[in-house]
Amino acid sequence: MRKIFEESTINRMTLKNRLIRSATWEGMCEEAGRPTARLIDCYRDLARGGVGLIITGYAFVSEEGRQLPCTLGAHSGQFVNDLKRLTGAVHAEEGKICLQLVHVGGQTKAKDIGRAPLAPSAVMTKQFPQVPVEMSFAEIQRVIKAFGEAAGRARESGFDAVQLHGAHGYLINQFLSPLTNLRTDEYGGSIDNRCRFMIEVYWRVREVVGRDYPVLIKLNGADHLVGGLDLEDAVYAAELLDQEGIDAIEISGGTPASGAMAPIRNKIDSPTLEGYNLPLCREIKAAVSCPVIAVGGFRSFPVVERAIRDEVDYVAMARPFIREPDLALRWRSGNCTAAFCISCSKCFMPGLKEGGIYCVVK
Ligand SMILES: Cc1cc2nc3c(=O)[nH]c(=O)nc-3n(C[C@H](O)[C@H](O)[C@H](O)COP(=O)(O)O)c2cc1C
Repeated sequence: MRKIFEESTINRMTLKNRLIRSATWEGMCEEAGRPTARLIDCYRDLARGGVGLIITGYAFVSEEGRQLPCTLGAHSGQFVNDLKRLTGAVHAEEGKICLQLVHVGGQTKAKDIGRAPLAPSAVMTKQFPQVPVEMSFAEIQRVIKAFGEAAGRARESGFDAVQLHGAHGYLINQFLSPLTNLRTDEYGGSIDNRCRFMIEVYWRVREVVGRDYPVLIKLNGADHLVGGLDLEDAVYAAELLDQEGIDAIEISGGTPASGAMAPIRNKIDSPTLEGYNLPLCREIKAAVSCPVIAVGGFRSFPVVERAIRDEVDYVAMARPFIREPDLALRWRSGNCTAAFCISCSKCFMPGLKEGGIYCVVK
């Protein structure tokens, strides 16, 4: 029987409990992507707060794969020394940290990246009112290589693991989804073809970091869009990753176009609304042998405890740790009232305007 506060391993990484800080863009880097002292302090606080694993905010693997401002850059070697300081600060507090790698594909704006966004097909996605350019075969190979190089930098910089961002409508998800992938070559059409980009990214990353280094992925269990990635295809994608040796799969759901079913839902004010991706997790957990991580709306101790005992290997949270970086220690100490986060998502705003996210309610 799994318990929240017990040691476990993902590949060779030992985690002191089963609580994970899900990837959360902090907006605390310099414009070019260099981490600041504020970001290092943020991760130090999380590590001190006792969470088992910190997953960083999404770090872009190539210049045109970025979206929000002041995001971490994993696209070049110029920040390796800064990143070593960052991972060193976490390790000094006996924490573990995983770098999330992203290419946002068509979910960005030309004015922010200095060129037309790239995507599997020239399909406009809601909220990004610009038709992206269909990637050529050479561009696909370049981006696959960029993921590999970024993962190599993560390992060199002292990160304990990497996580591929395969969810929320970003590039890997765009390839998986029949709504955004209309290709007729080997990267489109059948589910095997739509998985090809994801698997080739995974293979390249694995080749660079080696078998003993934890490689995780965040996947949508469903896009919640008519014609988008559905649960059946997501289970297939998860099975494929599992067979190829992925070390853990975090299950989210939705894209920014999914309305009430988007990845970040508001007003989680009752236990029945919590853990809103658990139905997707259940199907995927039944199909794979690797650990499964659930994310989405977890707030109260009994719900987290039950999910870990009965359903998934780990529970990840994002917004609760913005308000309470020490939530894990608080729960561990026996003060098990629910996380104070009210799920308003207003934490985004200071990230955009004030050089970093924080809880505006606190
Ligand atoms: C401010 C903010 C930034 C986020 N940035 C990322 C990110 O960089 N990568 C990612 O996979 N998810 C990101 N998310 C989504 C979270 O990881 C998580 O999937 C979602 O917030 C639901 O979990 P929660 O209810 O515990 O917040 C972000 C969420 C918030 C609120």
